Amino acid sequence: MVNIKTASEIERMRAVGALAAEQLEMIADHIKPGISTGELDRICHRYTIDVQDATPAPLNYRGFPKSICTSVNHVVCHGIPSDDKVLKDGDIINIDVTLIKDGFHGDTSKTFIVGKGSVRAERLVETSRHCLNLGIAAVRPGATLGDIGYAIQRHAEKQRFSIVREYCGHGIGRVFHDEPQVLHYGRPNTGLTLAPGMTFTIEPMINAGKAAVKLLPDQWTVVTKDHQLTAQWEHTILVTETGYEILTHRSDDELPRLG
Ligand code: MF3
Ligand code: CO
Ligand code: CO
Repeated sequence: MVNIKTASEIERMRAVGALAAEQLEMIADHIKPGISTGELDRICHRYTIDVQDATPAPLNYRGFPKSICTSVNHVVCHGIPSDDKVLKDGDIINIDVTLIKDGFHGDTSKTFIVGKGSVRAERLVETSRHCLNLGIAAVRPGATLGDIGYAIQRHAEKQRFSIVREYCGHGIGRVFHDEPQVLHYGRPNTGLTLAPGMTFTIEPMINAGKAAVKLLPDQWTVVTKDHQLTAQWEHTILVTETGYEILTHRSDDELPRLG
């Protein structure tokens, strides 16, 4: 069963979502050639605890060793921050933050370009961002999960990029990864019908090359099999009476908070 949030639960989802969004805004200034992903993790960890009085959900989640995920270039998701991984000009990096505050989770990510990216990197990053926005724009009561997946798939494939199938968006609230599974591909008018009070993430992973991925021996890091670039954007979304609310909305978002 997909759980419907009460008004007071939605208030707490809004609060933790705002903190997660603010953390991505905070870390933006630090993303420069020469910084390590280990240092980015420490900055986020301290900010979460000391400034936001929140908890980093990834830390110790199913054994994950760090407070954020940092996925560089051909890393699809769940990259583990490390002092040995130093960013260089032209890299792309997805920073994925999930916070817990007052018992509720807020989960959001964006892909940054370090310095100046290649034309292909920029097209991939913008396409994956637009895929997320098209998925969000499909959210309203009466629409289906298939409508969201279809909107994402149609745009990615029109751009001749591919969609990762093994990982999906998810219900979120008191639980980090809850029902339903939100696939980033699908057919219109199929799957669960959306209703007001549902909260879930949409987080398409779009590959420049083929869709296939593999898991590295650390059992976390997911990479593209062909080692081509991959990009991802994620928001936590509430289904409202008339459409959507982006609970992790940032000032650099293209869509309005409410749609
Ligand atoms: N934040 C990721 C998501 O979007 C999950 C990370 S799980 C972790 O669902 F353990 F790697 F942190
Ligand atoms: Co997520
Ligand atoms: Co996430």
